[in-house]
Amino acid sequence: MRLHIADHPLISHKLTVLRDRTTDSPTFRRLADELVTLLAYEATREVHVEPREITTPVTEMTGVRIADPRPLVVPILRAGLGMLEGMTRLVPTAEVGFLGMVRDEETLTATTYAERLPDDLSGRQIFVLDPMLATGGTLAAAIRFLLDRGARDVVAICLLTAPEGVRLIETTFGQSANVTIVTAALDERLNEKGYIVPGLGDAGDRLYGVV
Ligand code: URA
Repeated sequence: MRLHIADHPLISHKLTVLRDRTTDSPTFRRLADELVTLLAYEATREVHVEPREITTPVTEMTGVRIADPRPLVVPILRAGLGMLEGMTRLVPTAEVGFLGMVRDEETLTATTYAERLPDDLSGRQIFVLDPMLATGGTLAAAIRFLLDRGARDVVAICLLTAPEGVRLIETTFGQSANVTIVTAALDERLNEKGYIVPGLGDAGDRLYGVV
């Protein structure tokens, strides 16, 4: 597992406004969207490309374009949906699949309750969207599900991460270079209620209001 903390000043600025409890829902949504686009730029550094012959107004040349099979973007329901537009704005040719994960409060294991993905993910490069990496149970289960379907590599884009969650991904996937986390910050810890500290609160509630 590789961890990439994108500590660009613009990212830190937007993240600070997101963290602020006085930031209202419309502003939170817009800033989360902008932040995801900036993180997506970092996360796609190793997106697969192939050569492409073109003719400029001056001469012929070989450029590149995003290779087939196209990248697959997978938001984890519900809060990951708030990150989708920020990602597809940067990679409009990506395909989009959906994964709904729920945690069994007795066994504490995450299981899949909804899934809209190709059956065969062989050779696919996957970008998972999950705003808050807290205990890591959900993200670990999602990555395992995608790798079991044949995914070639998985990059998880998280607005915020906690050391507990990063450690779980690390112990689950070891040194393998085919799992990467890209995040705006690695926070201090989880509190007794499982919230990231200092964090930004409940990302789903702040994006969509409490339901
Ligand atoms: N999920 C959230 O939305 N916030 C946290 O702090 C932890 C998990």
